[in-house]
Amino acid sequence: MDKQAQDKLKEQAGVKAASLVKSGMKLGVGTGSTVAYLIAELGRRKKEEGLELAAIATTSSRSKKQLEDQGFMVTELAAIDQLDLTIDGADRLATNFDGIKGGGGALTMEKNVAINSKRVMWIVDESKLVDRLGGFPLPVEVLPVSCEQNFRRFQAEGLKPAWRMAGNQRFVTHYGNYLIDLKVDPIPVPHSLAAYLDQTVGVVEHGLFLDMCDEVIIAHTSGAIEDRQ
Ligand code: 5RP
Repeated sequence: MDKQAQDKLKEQAGVKAASLVKSGMKLGVGTGSTVAYLIAELGRRKKEEGLELAAIATTSSRSKKQLEDQGFMVTELAAIDQLDLTIDGADRLATNFDGIKGGGGALTMEKNVAINSKRVMWIVDESKLVDRLGGFPLPVEVLPVSCEQNFRRFQAEGLKPAWRMAGNQRFVTHYGNYLIDLKVDPIPVPHSLAAYLDQTVGVVEHGLFLDMCDEVIIAHTSGAIEDRQ
């Protein structure tokens, strides 16, 4: 699929998801190019239909700026007891709704917002669908203090680590950490890998989002917009 066609599908998924948002909701808003379409449509609904959210939290400074430009007041997640709904993109989506996220590097905040939501909805174009998780490097956010040891340990475990780069520098996350992308593909047992990463000292968060998503909006090249729950 070429980029223009994919962007069109991303827009359709974002617009459909925005139509499911109701005034009075406490909403979590993720990060990425699909989410950018969601925010644009939320802004349109605010101006033209009077959509008013009770609270809105987001997962990156990019989304925060776009939301503020649309007239929304963004609140820190810590100040909200629980979000009603979080809408986010995903890099890969398996048939059981498990996903890989973090292509944009915002995985830590994305997971925090997701687990503090009553419902989680992902918006994707059909190119993100996979039978088994894989087809995309798995991001792992690591503390700089022990990142070299983490990298060597991942190498020894056969997880094929690569530093995420921004030009010729290491990519630095919002929290001042580095990202290691694991090129293990497909991921044989996602829950085992998640458990291993969860208990590895120095790992802040990883991009395996398992048992978290409740609903997905999928835009297909056929023109169908599927709402799968
Ligand atoms: C950022 C993410 C994004 O949700 C994911 O990368 C999808 O992005 P896009 O909508 O641009 O394809 O996880 O960390």
